[in-house]
Amino acid sequence: MKKLLVMAIAGSALAVSCTQKGIADGKITKAESIAQGKVIFENSCGKCHDLPNPKSHTDAQWTGIVNAMAPKAKLTDAQGTMVYDYVTANN
Ligand code: HEC
Repeated sequence: MKKLLVMAIAGSALAVSCTQKGIADGKITKAESIAQGKVIFENSCGKCHDLPNPKSHTDAQWTGIVNAMAPKAKLTDAQGTMVYDYVTANN
């Protein structure tokens, strides 16, 4: 059920992607952050290597990886948080 909800929201992520900075103001929900994170992840994290499998790392490992990779992918802090929310919702 949770997965289905996330997928349903992910379908509408493109429509809300112009509101990315909303999370910094606390205006977007965790589910929206996960959905936007999926889009950012798929667009930004497969450029230099294959898209990593979220299941390949623990939450703690993802913290360090996103900190290291977000600058490589030229993401803002808010976008990095969304990617983190997405991968740790699916690992
Ligand atoms: C500019 C190129 C580039 C981009 C964009 C990039 N990466 Fe990487 N990534 C690398 C390189 C180079 C390595 C291997 C060396 C290293 O760990 O720094 C790597 C390694 C990794 C690893 C393996 C780390 C490990 O400890 O096994 C993961 C997972 C990863 N990247 C995730 C991501 C995610 C998530 C994003 C999007 C936010 C991303 N990468 C974007 C270049 C990139």
